[in-house]
Amino acid sequence: MFFITTAIDYPNGKPHIGHAFEKILADVLTRYQRLKGTPAYFLTGVDQHGQKMVKTAESEGVNVATLAKRNTKGFLRLWEKLGVHYDGWAETTDERHKACVQAILSDLKEKGALYKKAYAGFYSVRQEQFLTDRDRNEAGQFGPEWGEVIEIEEENWYFKLSDHISWLRSAIEKNDLKITPEFRRTEVLNALERSGDTDLCISRPKDRLAWGIPLPFDPDFVTYVWFDALINYISFAGYRKADDSNLPEFGDLWPADLQIIGKDILVPAHAVYWPCMLHAMGFEGSAMPTLLVHGFWNVKGDKMSKSLGNIVDPDELANHFGTDALRYYLCRDIRAGKDSDFDLERLVMLFNTELANDLGNLLNRSINMTKGFCNSTISDTNTSDPADVALRESLAKTTSAYREAMESCEVSVALQAINDHVTHCNGYLEKHKPWEMKKDESLLPRVGEVLSHTAESCAHLAVLLRPVLPDAAAKIFGQLKMESLADLTLADLTWGLLKPGHQTGKPKPVFPRIQLEQEG
Ligand code: MSP
Repeated sequence: MFFITTAIDYPNGKPHIGHAFEKILADVLTRYQRLKGTPAYFLTGVDQHGQKMVKTAESEGVNVATLAKRNTKGFLRLWEKLGVHYDGWAETTDERHKACVQAILSDLKEKGALYKKAYAGFYSVRQEQFLTDRDRNEAGQFGPEWGEVIEIEEENWYFKLSDHISWLRSAIEKNDLKITPEFRRTEVLNALERSGDTDLCISRPKDRLAWGIPLPFDPDFVTYVWFDALINYISFAGYRKADDSNLPEFGDLWPADLQIIGKDILVPAHAVYWPCMLHAMGFEGSAMPTLLVHGFWNVKGDKMSKSLGNIVDPDELANHFGTDALRYYLCRDIRAGKDSDFDLERLVMLFNTELANDLGNLLNRSINMTKGFCNSTISDTNTSDPADVALRESLAKTTSAYREAMESCEVSVALQAINDHVTHCNGYLEKHKPWEMKKDESLLPRVGEVLSHTAESCAHLAVLLRPVLPDAAAKIFGQLKMESLADLTLADLTWGLLKPGHQTGKPKPVFPRIQLEQEG
């Protein structure tokens, strides 16, 4: 089973475009696996504990559990609207997760991997972390990014992270722990060079933070952030599950084939803490997950933030422009782990040119003219005309480029490959001008061949587009009267899906142009 996970989102507000992008990417890659015929399981969810949630609840004057529940619903509603179909839903307040976290903590304590110590030092209230001298700037100060810095003395529990660092370095070098894209792997190795041998503080005293999972061996403390959140990847995959838990079989899923995360939580959380935690639990190098790291969506070069008031709301975008336009844009405009700038005009432009004009017109013209000039009947497409041969070659090239790109999770490159064949087909129609040819009755058989080449291409393109735009693909299958294409795998995608004599349906625009003028 191909196992895909994403980061679990903090539900301390509404989901933004960055959250939506990550879930859509995971959804697309899961659907792609199924298109290959590979069974896949997609786990995502929400990270409901922690100080941020408590602060938001205080500022809104609601109970933190109520806030977590309410905001979680907002995430669930959005994923439904955006066609994000997951198989497992991880909520960190789930009793099954809590039990797993506590069992892991007890084990690690038994093994001597945890210890308690008093620490006196500087603490950033905003970032909720202890600071060391390495966090000082060149002037020797704690910079403004840390907000208010106070001196505190506190006892806490620590995980012996330092015991695992040299193992981690070799696990990354040997590619047991895979990190893609490659430049992110280099980033992690460089960070390890610079890292000292500090251990990881994993608790907070209950009197300072009560909203967390209590340590089973010291109930005055709760787990802090990563020892709770990271464990979701295994707890909801069935690790140490109870018989009646209704969770998957761990052995069927683990290790994760793709853990999709943003660049901000790569170092140290996912590339250092997480593999070291797994190693301490007894997972070998071969049981390490693969990390896929994506970039950030910014707005006009700025990071999205409440204070800048520039947060892009995917819910509003889907309401205005539709789910297809949003899914297409997010997949089309980000490349191989790099940042992207959210640009509404590009969203509209990409939809209107690549979908409404190019693919939409190709589909519409193919079905419309097949109906008007050929009685909706498909002709034999095993022809030897050089233009036909070139079209079939273009489709084969597109299909293999699409496959290669999707295998390396470069959805944007896969969409470009689809567009290349659309452009080829539109050029082919312009060259043959079936609307002119049909005036000469003796050319009608050739008209049928030409239109059947483009209709056949539309069938293939819709199958390839299915992971990104499942609804649009279904509409295209409907207009081609080929609902059976919905069950097709990539291996079945050979020329001749539409058989001679097959009757196509009625044309109806699948991608109606977005008219910005009509927007209020
Ligand atoms: N709860 C932690 C993750 C725990 S995973 C065990 C967290 N939550 S988050 O809500 O802040 O972020 C969730 C995911 O969204 C992360 O992968 C993060 O990188 C991603 N993004 C947050 N802002 C983003 C953008 N502006 N653009 C793209 N992705 C971004 O971190």
